[in-house]
Amino acid sequence: MSRFLNYFEAFPTLSRRVASRFECLEISQIQQQEIMAFLEPISIKDPETYEHSLRVGLLASSLCEFMNLDPSAGFYAGLFHEIDKPKVRFVTLQKKEVWTPDDTEEIKKEIMSEYRMLCSHFDLVAEIIVWHHRYQPGRYPAKVFPPLNDYPESTRVTLPIFGRLLSLSDAYDAFHQVDDRHAVMVPPSGESIKKRMLKYNSDQKLFIELAYREKIFTTRIHRAPTETSVAA
Ligand SMILES: [Fe+2]
Ligand SMILES: [Fe+2]
Repeated sequence: MSRFLNYFEAFPTLSRRVASRFECLEISQIQQQEIMAFLEPISIKDPETYEHSLRVGLLASSLCEFMNLDPSAGFYAGLFHEIDKPKVRFVTLQKKEVWTPDDTEEIKKEIMSEYRMLCSHFDLVAEIIVWHHRYQPGRYPAKVFPPLNDYPESTRVTLPIFGRLLSLSDAYDAFHQVDDRHAVMVPPSGESIKKRMLKYNSDQKLFIELAYREKIFTTRIHRAPTETSVAA
């Protein structure tokens, strides 16, 4: 049984939602295949984290759309934000006990190779992913890397915003775990998740309220688990 509570309706299925987002964003078949090839290792090694990535991609793309930012960039960033997790030890990924500083160090090491892996194919997305870690407790990397390319000023200034939207999507989905790193051992209610979102992202209170009002985030929780092991 999935450790994530489901906030999407059971139908359409998660994989169907992802397929329609690809369609809406007019992402070519070739590009879709390339994306899915990148995601394949994590879908095999850790289906729950894979599905977390799909949901975060969908949320981040909706938040970007709402902010009149490129929804494809948010979508890709969400899909790829855990891409290097297959290199993290399985016991760490599946850990149900309290998260330790050593576990965090292990994950931090991997973000650097995650960044390198993505840079050659999806440079802008890699930048967004690095930014998103800077909005969480114990933020890293300590220094922001110089941009990979000589982006126009308009792109440079939006990178931290994309990163913030990705971090909100990531936190929202992660808060739906029953046994997450904060040792939540009983299923949280939708309202308690909203409170945590506001508490841990106090600089974004207004935006979070708007995201709930727009129904991008919801306090509804469905009993059915997510579709673990359903390939996209
Ligand atoms: Fe994250
Ligand atoms: Fe995540």
